[in-house]
Amino acid sequence: MASALVAKHFPKIIRTSLLNFARKSYKRLVREAVDGRDPRWDVVRRISTVAAEAWMSAQRDLEETSDFSARYLKEVTNRRWYALMDERHRRAAQSTYDFIDENMRSAMYLPTKTAAWRKVAASIPADGHILQFGVYKGGSINALADLWPSRRIDGFDSFQGLPENWSYSAAGSFDLRGSMPKVRDNVTLHAGWFEDTLPIWGSENPGNVAFLDLDCDLYSSTRVVLSHLRPRIQSGTWIHIDEMIGYYGWQDHEFKAFQEFLSEAGHRFEYLYYGSTYVLGRIR
Ligand SMILES: C[S@@+](CC[C@H](N)C(=O)[O-])C[C@H]1O[C@@H](n2cnc3c(N)ncnc32)[C@H](O)[C@@H]1O
Repeated sequence: MASALVAKHFPKIIRTSLLNFARKSYKRLVREAVDGRDPRWDVVRRISTVAAEAWMSAQRDLEETSDFSARYLKEVTNRRWYALMDERHRRAAQSTYDFIDENMRSAMYLPTKTAAWRKVAASIPADGHILQFGVYKGGSINALADLWPSRRIDGFDSFQGLPENWSYSAAGSFDLRGSMPKVRDNVTLHAGWFEDTLPIWGSENPGNVAFLDLDCDLYSSTRVVLSHLRPRIQSGTWIHIDEMIGYYGWQDHEFKAFQEFLSEAGHRFEYLYYGSTYVLGRIR
């Protein structure tokens, strides 16, 4: 409105002079402010300093708050994770001990399977096959080979990992891309899926099983093995099942296939040793 009046009533030269005057006055004010000559500007400067400090401290608070929030969130997430895992382990332990109480109270707890194997090494039938299903890098089959150095140990594995998801390992875990591990001289390896290698091995190797090590984790794989070997598993056969109990989901894998086998074959099993996941015993 004011500028419209100026435009209407003052000639151009007056407008220009007024603008120049305003510009000069502004510059002087700024110079005085910078030099600190005008005490009013000092107040303005102090106010702006206080405002800037307040702004920076607010900014710091905000950063600290968001840092705290991130740490708090991480802590909460961790606690939730631990609580879930604890509950998982607690339920697995409880259901495992329900099974132990009912079926194997007299079995002895031995933390390592190799200690249990050593206990029974002299008691396995003098004749019969010693077989392992699930060889992977050969750690445990070499332990079996050292335990019975004068007997042949047959090991079966795809060397391509698990064909399906298992409770703690996804399909494809333990994949060695078909390459076979270095094993003791008394070990013979059979590479391929159990359903393919077992019939071939079976047709060339008659006789019962003396010691069977099931370490292939999955229900389906354990079921295939036990179905093929059913006629060769007799009274006196020792069976080690590496992941039968103790973890969340144990009832759905090796345990399930083994219980089905026992009831279908009409066998009774004497559980003698167990650890956090394995059991070892013999067919009565
Ligand atoms: C837990 S690992 C064996 C660990 C091994 N005993 C050791 O001492 O480290 C399980 C193995 O079972 C094998 N496996 C599982 N199901 C199979 C199947 N249906 N046929 C062949 N191999 C299988 C996998 O390839 C894997 O190497």
